[in-house]
Amino acid sequence: MLGLQWGDEGKGKIVDVLTPKYDVICRFQGGPNAGHTLEIDNFKQVLHTIPSGIFRKDKMNVIGNGVVIDPITFEREIESISKHGVDLHKTLYISKKAHLILPTHRLLDAASEEAKGATKIGSTLKGIGPTYRDKIGREGLRVGDLFENFSEKYAVRVQAHKDLLDKYYHFDYSAQFAETEKEWMKAIEVLKTFNIVDTEHLINESLAENKAVLAEGAQGTMLDIDFGSYPFVTSSSTICAGACTGLGVAPNKIGNVYGIFKAYCTRVGSGPFPTELFDEDGQNMRAVGREYGSTTGRPRRCGWLDLVALKYSIMLNGVTELIMMKADVLDQFETIKICMGYEINGEVTDKFPFELNDGVKPEFVELPGWKTDLTQLTSQDEFPEEFNNYINFIEEQVGIPISIASVGPNRAQTILLGD
Ligand code: GDP
Ligand code: IMO
Ligand code: MG
Repeated sequence: MLGLQWGDEGKGKIVDVLTPKYDVICRFQGGPNAGHTLEIDNFKQVLHTIPSGIFRKDKMNVIGNGVVIDPITFEREIESISKHGVDLHKTLYISKKAHLILPTHRLLDAASEEAKGATKIGSTLKGIGPTYRDKIGREGLRVGDLFENFSEKYAVRVQAHKDLLDKYYHFDYSAQFAETEKEWMKAIEVLKTFNIVDTEHLINESLAENKAVLAEGAQGTMLDIDFGSYPFVTSSSTICAGACTGLGVAPNKIGNVYGIFKAYCTRVGSGPFPTELFDEDGQNMRAVGREYGSTTGRPRRCGWLDLVALKYSIMLNGVTELIMMKADVLDQFETIKICMGYEINGEVTDKFPFELNDGVKPEFVELPGWKTDLTQLTSQDEFPEEFNNYINFIEEQVGIPISIASVGPNRAQTILLGD
């Protein structure tokens, strides 16, 4: 299950909805930069590190090797979930190979963004970039390291980070560091009480027993380190192939690929966004869709659905089924626009270009709005004609069926679509 846009497509909600059909739910990349929201009956839970299947009973949940874990966020998340009577000690498995976000990684994130000034990425400042940088640079610390000579390994790494902060960034961290480090050390003791194993074996054994495994993407395809709008991306492989490396699952084991997208687009943080709206329409989308970051609370930038980007994401992920989210946010619009192509140097293309610079102009078609409250509907039979047309139009353009339409944040506001 992968996000096809710039994140916050509604991945958390859909994983919770799909979980009853699965035995094992896995996160394979990213870390607490993610904020996945679940609305179940009368409560709401935002998850950052823990897979979104945890409120369904008797499922195994896995945090794979491709994830980066901040023990402090993890501990807070566990505390908040336990208030709902969920104890994850039996059902959660954490990879020994997942990398640890150290307190200094967060500081390095802040220092790096500060140094960039106007060209900053707009990072969530959770230490994601510096942690993956250490991983790829072969200097990171993994969850499995917590059990062997950890203090020595930790001291070497943190000293190197402090040198960078002092000598390269001239970043004063003294005010925050001691307190955070104390909290971090306390949190690793909590982390160590969970099942920490080589999760690649666990997942492959589950597959061999014909158990159904669902991989939950974080971020979105347009934030992928290779194919997103570089450098305004995150630091991991958010696409389908990332599930293979992030879990230790071979490509020929991948079955259905669910691609999830909003009926419009949002982006949080800096970077290009061709269909972005700066007018009242964009403000309406933000207000009705409650488009504020689940992790940072920042207002999300809003714009029309971009089929150039969507087709590109479908291609990169090998999507077999589409899931459309948040169509209800467009309920009030008289007409709805869809971007069909980009005009670049006087020529229109539907191929996603190397770079999305200011020279890229979106070309739109306009479809009639449905002017109906979709949030109350329970089956496709009740859909207004204009909404069916919107769905059919997208399916025809991208050549992949939409199998689910989500019409509200709650679990129950999910409608299965027929042929
Ligand atoms: P994720 O990061 O992809 O899991 O998405 P987020 O949780 O960050 O953002 C999606 C937001 O939209 C959350 O507040 C959800 O509760 C909400 N949401 C999910 N599906 C729908 C929907 O169909 N309609 C509306 N109005 N809200 C939705
Ligand atoms: P979910 O899983 C939306 C964005 C940040 C920033 C860029 C890099 O909830 O969809 P990072 O913290 O990774 O260094 O930030 O990526 N970003 C997200 N945007 N949803 C997310 O996660 C995001 N995770 C990171 O805003 O522009
Ligand atoms: Mg989110």
